Amino acid sequence: MQLYLPGIKLNYNEAGNGPVVVLLHAFPLAGAMWWQQVAALRANYRVIVPDLRGFGDSDAPPGPYLMDQMADDVAALLKERGVTQSAVVGLSMGGYIAFSLWRRHRQLLSALVLADTRAAPDSAEGQATREANACLVEREGPPAIAAKMIPNLVAPSANQTIRNTLTQLIHANSSQGIAGALRGMALRPDSRPDLASINIPTLVIVGSEDSLTPPAEAEAMHQALPNSTLVKIEGAGHLSNLEQPDAFNAALQSFFAA
Ligand code: MLT
Repeated sequence: MQLYLPGIKLNYNEAGNGPVVVLLHAFPLAGAMWWQQVAALRANYRVIVPDLRGFGDSDAPPGPYLMDQMADDVAALLKERGVTQSAVVGLSMGGYIAFSLWRRHRQLLSALVLADTRAAPDSAEGQATREANACLVEREGPPAIAAKMIPNLVAPSANQTIRNTLTQLIHANSSQGIAGALRGMALRPDSRPDLASINIPTLVIVGSEDSLTPPAEAEAMHQALPNSTLVKIEGAGHLSNLEQPDAFNAALQSFFAA
C-alpha cells in the first residue's frame, strides 16, 4: 500500500487485527526483513510495516534523511491509518527513529521495543566512515555496501539463506537511498539524555553476538530506562529478528501480553 507525503511516496504493509504494532526496519534493508514477525503477530495484532524513505518500494529522494524526518514519515503514516497509539519496534536504525518518535510524537507511543540499537550518537570516526560508505555506494552501487556490511550484520554462524536474503534486500535498494540514510544517521542526536524520560514500558533486545550494537550498549540503555526489560538472544548477531525469529517473537509476545 502507498501513502503520498509531500515530495515522497511511502510504501507500507499492514496485516492483522488488534492493538497496533509498528515495525521499523534496519539499515540498509526494508520492511520485508520483518516477515517472520508479521507472520507471528498478525493473529493478535494489527501490524504496520513501512519501507522507510529511501528503502524498499518507497521513494528515495536526495538525502540526508534525518531521523526526525523519518519519524515524521511514520507519524504521518499512523495518522493516515487512523492510529492514535501503537507499540513501536525499532531495530538498529529503526531504534534511532523510535527515539525521534519519542521526542516528537510521544503521544502516539504506548510501548517501545529497542532491538540491537544504541542511544549514543556517532563518534567523529563513525561519521567519517558513514561519509566514506556514502561515497562508496554512490560510486559502486549497493553491492559494494552489501559485501562490506553483511559479515557484520549477522553472527558468524548465520546460514547462507539469511545471507542471501540480506543480499537481495540490499541490492534492491538504490544508491541514493542508502547514501541518504548513511548521512542522516551520521547527523542523529545523542538520545542518551532522553532515556530517563521514557516512562512507557520498553523492551530492550540484543543478539548475544551483535558486534555493531553489542550487549554492553543494550545493558547501558536498560540501566538508564526507568521501565525496561532486557532480553538477550543467544546465537544471534545484529539482526536478531532474522537470525533467531522464534526467540525474538517469543520476547515480543510475552512483552506485549504483559
Ligand atoms: C542498522 O542495522 O540499522 C545499522 O547497522 C545502523 C547503523 O549503521 O548505525
